[in-house]
Amino acid sequence: MTDRAARPLIIGSGIAGLYVALRCRELGLRPTLVTKARLEESNTRYAQGGIAAAIGPDDSPARHLADTVRAGAGLVDRAAAKVLTGEAPKRIADLVRYGVPFDTVEGHIALGREAAHSRSRLLHAGGDATGYSIEETLKRHVLAAGVEARESTVLRALRPGNRDGPVAVLSAPNGTAVEVEPPRPVVLATGGVGSLYLQSSNPAVATGEGISLAFRAGALVSDMEFVQFHPTAFAQEGAPRFLITEALRGEGAVLRNEAGERFMVDRHQDAELAPRDVVTRAIEEEIARSSIRHVFLDATALPRDLLFARFPSVTSFLLAHGVDPSRERIPVAPVAHYMVGGVTTDLEGRSSVPGLYAVGEAAATGVHGANRLGSNSLVEGLVFGERAARRLKQPVAGGPRPPAKVLSLELPFGEGGPQEGAMFEEIRSRLWEEVGIERDAPALRSALERFGEIERRAGPRGPDELPGRVANAALTATLIARAALARTESRGVHFRRDFPTPRPAWRRHLGVLLARPTRRAA
Ligand code: FUM
Repeated sequence: MTDRAARPLIIGSGIAGLYVALRCRELGLRPTLVTKARLEESNTRYAQGGIAAAIGPDDSPARHLADTVRAGAGLVDRAAAKVLTGEAPKRIADLVRYGVPFDTVEGHIALGREAAHSRSRLLHAGGDATGYSIEETLKRHVLAAGVEARESTVLRALRPGNRDGPVAVLSAPNGTAVEVEPPRPVVLATGGVGSLYLQSSNPAVATGEGISLAFRAGALVSDMEFVQFHPTAFAQEGAPRFLITEALRGEGAVLRNEAGERFMVDRHQDAELAPRDVVTRAIEEEIARSSIRHVFLDATALPRDLLFARFPSVTSFLLAHGVDPSRERIPVAPVAHYMVGGVTTDLEGRSSVPGLYAVGEAAATGVHGANRLGSNSLVEGLVFGERAARRLKQPVAGGPRPPAKVLSLELPFGEGGPQEGAMFEEIRSRLWEEVGIERDAPALRSALERFGEIERRAGPRGPDELPGRVANAALTATLIARAALARTESRGVHFRRDFPTPRPAWRRHLGVLLARPTRRAA
């Protein structure tokens, strides 16, 4: 192994980035962990419901696998899901060893329930502060292990390197202090795209540039049409769209419409615990026919003590916004939540670009199919993070098999125009309105046209110019809309009004690849 190969650069500090960095260090490598904000700021920090693993006496990895496959609507890569569900208990044991304070009942780890899980299998910590507890614990270990951690450092580009990996270009958040790293393995643990949507449960850092920069560097991306929406975020005018965890429905909270009716009962045998996409669309239908822009989550039948002890983050947020959930119904509406697709990888995190890895939400292994089972994402970061760390220790050439269908996308160089906030906000609005919970061809075409115009105006003028925030957002939005337009069916979280049912011919993954860098646009 070369000296450079032993010094992987890990981008992103959620569960996947922290865990890969920690495990690389423990395996004798010398990783550098880079994050664009503070080390602890990531989507992981806000994860509430839990982390899924079949550790209960009535559970097994085979059951967890079956639930994962069922939720994925015919597209789950079975080998990936077998790895995920089979290795999850071992990775949970690692977290216990690191000291994550999982909640217990009578000396045993307590297990919660979420939609489409046939068993209670969600470990949680601090009630609904699961992500926070994991993030803080891993961060402590990363620092104690002597991992070099660089905050406020942004990945600006990935350029051709050598066998060890690509050349990463880094800078300060304001674009100054540009550094060009020598070729070394790069692990994208940059998370998802949620905050590119106007309504989102994600923190502002979740803007998906790991995916767009990998794509610009020639990496295959796939499953980009599958953006998961979470049915229940707080929907009070002027307040943040704070996630109201599905685990509350797992404990018995129910959904009611404006008239106070439990509308999920007639829609699905599992009522409020139906798969997320089903609940999301049902809420949208209720909202469309009501005079208000939300429905209600009713937790008033739950014992007050349980409600406040099990869900301290949610209840304190609600109280601070004037809602006492033990007495009042909570206004809720869907938000963008999780990117199922991303940089195509094999089961060891290797992308189609030598030395470029992706792990966690930024990666697409096929493990979630067309719809992720709740709480499978934190554990995904650990399971595939461990595998990537081991592969980084013993690098061997390899990578993912391309999906059954691959589109090629031309990306002309742009005018290098200013990265204006107004354009960024327009992308967020259009993604929400035109590439949102329900899509159709005219809306997708209109969105694509505008994202293309923005990319042409704000995109880099040539291979040496660094893409900016708006150009990256426009490209990520294009990848989502392009894949959504191509998939002429509805499946999992991807719903087309003009093709409302699944079609057997579309039981396959869809990739997108850069056609070739082209001239500057005329
Ligand atoms: O509702 C929730 O707590 C969300 C969990 C998840 O997306 O995994």
